[in-house]
Amino acid sequence: MLKHQRGAVRAMMGMSLFVLLLLSGLVCSDSGVPRKYYFINQNMTWAEAQSYCREKYTDLVTVDSIDDVNMMLQAVVLQYNGSVWIGLKKGTKGQWCLSPNNAVTQNTYWGLFEPSGDGSCVNMKLGLWNDSPCTTLFYFVCYNGIGNILIHIPKTWRDAQSYCRQYYTDLATISSPEELFQINIVIGIHETWIGLFLDSWQWSDQCSLLFRNWATGYTSQTSEFGDCVAMSTTNSGKWIQDSCSKQHPFICYDAYRKRVLRLNLSCDGNCNLDDPSLQMATLNELFIQATRLPGRVQPGLTQPGPTPPRSAPAAAPPGPAP
Ligand SMILES: *[C@@H]1O[C@H](CO)[C@@H](O)[C@H](O)[C@H]1NC(C)=O
Ligand SMILES: *[C@@H]1O[C@H](CO)[C@@H](O)[C@H](O)[C@H]1NC(C)=O
Ligand SMILES: *[C@@H]1O[C@H](CO)[C@@H](O)[C@H](O)[C@H]1NC(C)=O
Repeated sequence: MLKHQRGAVRAMMGMSLFVLLLLSGLVCSDSGVPRKYYFINQNMTWAEAQSYCREKYTDLVTVDSIDDVNMMLQAVVLQYNGSVWIGLKKGTKGQWCLSPNNAVTQNTYWGLFEPSGDGSCVNMKLGLWNDSPCTTLFYFVCYNGIGNILIHIPKTWRDAQSYCRQYYTDLATISSPEELFQINIVIGIHETWIGLFLDSWQWSDQCSLLFRNWATGYTSQTSEFGDCVAMSTTNSGKWIQDSCSKQHPFICYDAYRKRVLRLNLSCDGNCNLDDPSLQMATLNELFIQATRLPGRVQPGLTQPGPTPPRSAPAAAPPGPAP
C-alpha cells in the first residue's frame, strides 16, 4: 500500500515537473507561441488601458502581421465600430529601418560623426549616410526592382517615398558595399533621400516588431496627431495616431505560458505504479503528447526527470513521436 502511494507520488512529481518545464517566458508574437486577444469595450486613456491589460492579462496587444489585424478586426466589429488602442506608442529611442519594415543591424554606412541626431530620415551626403529632418527637400533615388533611378525633383522624405511607391517600387536601399558603390554612381554629387529612416514607435511589451499598418497620412516619421496608436475598425484596421489622453476601448493579449498535459492512466485489476516499465510507458506517452502540442515546445527541454525508482534503468530520452 505504502509502496503504491510512493509510486503514485513519483508519478505525480513526474507530471508536475513536466508542466513546470513547459512554462515559457514572455514571448514576442512571431515566436509561434499562441496568444489570445481580449477586446475590452471600456473607454480608457492609453496608459489606463496599458495598466488594465498588464494587471489582468499580459499587455496591450502587439500586432505582427496583417493576419493579426484581420483577426482582431473581425472580433471587434461585432461589438464596436471606431478606434481601439493597441500597444504601440512613441518611444524615446528609435531604430534605423529600411523602408518598409527592416531594421538595419549590420552594414551601416554613416558619414563621420553621423548620425548626429538632427533628423529621422537619411540622405546620402558625400557618398555616405547622413541624418536630416524628414521635411527637408532633397532629390531622391527610387528602386525599380532592377536598379536605382535618380529623381531630379526636390521632395520631403515622405513625399519622395510616395512618389517611388507610385511610379517605381520604393525608395532605394543600401545593404552592401556593392550597392553603396552603385548608388553613388547614380547620385553623383547630389544630396538625395534614400529609404532609411528612424522608427521610434515602441510596443508596450518591448517586442521590437516592425510591422506597421498606418492609415494614409500617418507614417512612422511623424507623430503630429499624437503619440499613441489606435486601430480604426472603420478603416479596415488601419492605424492612426491619437492623443494618449483620449479615451478608447482597447485590446489586450495573453500569451499562453502554461500547458497542462493530462494523461489518463487506466489498467484492469492490479496496477503497480512502482513498475518501471509502466513509469517509462507513462513518461513516453507524456513526451509524445508534448511534441504534439501547438507552438514550439522544445522536446529536448521537456524531458521528464523524476528520480528513477530503484530498479528502473537510467531514464533514456524517450523516442520522438511516431
Ligand atoms: C465611450 O465613449 C463614447 C464617446 O464618448 C461613447 O459613445 C460610448 O458609449 C462609450 N462607451 C462605453 C462602453 O462607455
Ligand atoms: C460595425 O460595422 C460593420 C460593417 O459596417 C457592421 O457589420 C457591424 O454590425 C457594426 N458593428 C456594430 C457594433 O455596430
Ligand atoms: C480521462 O478520464 C476522465 C474521467 O473518466 C474523462 O472525463 C476524460 O475525458 C478522460 N480524458 C482523456 C484524455 O481521455
